[in-house]
Amino acid sequence: MGALILSERLFGFKTKLNKIVDSGKETIDTTAGIRVLSFDAIMEKHLDKVDQIVLPGAGFDLISLKYTKDSGHQVFELDQSATIQIKTATLNKAGIAHDWIHYIPVDYKRESWSENLLNSGFDPHKKTLFIWESVSLFLEKQEVEESLLKMAELCCEGSVVAQDFYSEHFISGKYSFAVRSQKNMIENMGEKWKFGIDMKENAEGVIEAFLNKHKLKIKEFHQFGEKLHIDPYYCIVEAERLNT
Ligand SMILES: C[S@@+](CC[C@H](N)C(=O)[O-])C[C@H]1O[C@@H](n2cnc3c(N)ncnc32)[C@H](O)[C@@H]1O
Repeated sequence: MGALILSERLFGFKTKLNKIVDSGKETIDTTAGIRVLSFDAIMEKHLDKVDQIVLPGAGFDLISLKYTKDSGHQVFELDQSATIQIKTATLNKAGIAHDWIHYIPVDYKRESWSENLLNSGFDPHKKTLFIWESVSLFLEKQEVEESLLKMAELCCEGSVVAQDFYSEHFISGKYSFAVRSQKNMIENMGEKWKFGIDMKENAEGVIEAFLNKHKLKIKEFHQFGEKLHIDPYYCIVEAERLNT
């Protein structure tokens, strides 16, 4: 986002990727930027109400750096060891402090991320905000289900799981020519889109039923493009533990 704003200021390069539109009027073109701002808003909303922040599959996201310096939260970022090494080496090179963040390497094929989290000082009795942004689409359905169940089990009263889901139609690449091109480009870089939810009818109902099966329930639901009555493609959900 920052690079796009800078390139617009310096070179007049215009893109819809950093265009902000009214809530519910998002389109595929404007999703990337609004997605990031939406998770920033979720972080701002919950920060003072939780003690811990956990980002499973944090990648190169800098949201925890932006919001938790000197905040007193316990912060845990999990990802593959190579990703964490590049991220922390780059932060060191740039002289950006990050010493309060616990970076937890996980070999997803061989280890349980929740066990590594518990072994790194995470306290399941403390209120937690999980941020699971742009991860589920890269996982197999079974991995998504296992991760949701683990997050639910690690949630005490007052904890929140913020996450996003893409539609099956979007993930298949059949949504539009632009989506297909994006899918092919990302696949060529070695990352495959795998998991989407059938959102054709009643996206919120379908997602609620899916989350309920994994011990979670919806607190807040936002369907991008809902006011435009376009084919549903992307939703952001804040969930909490379902008391059974
Ligand atoms: C598209 S990135 C999203 C990064 C970050 N959450 C963001 O929004 O910028 C997906 C991340 O998921 C991680 N990942 C890959 N396999 C995973 C798995 N089985 N479980 C959880 N995360 C995984 C990848 O290493 C990658 O950093």
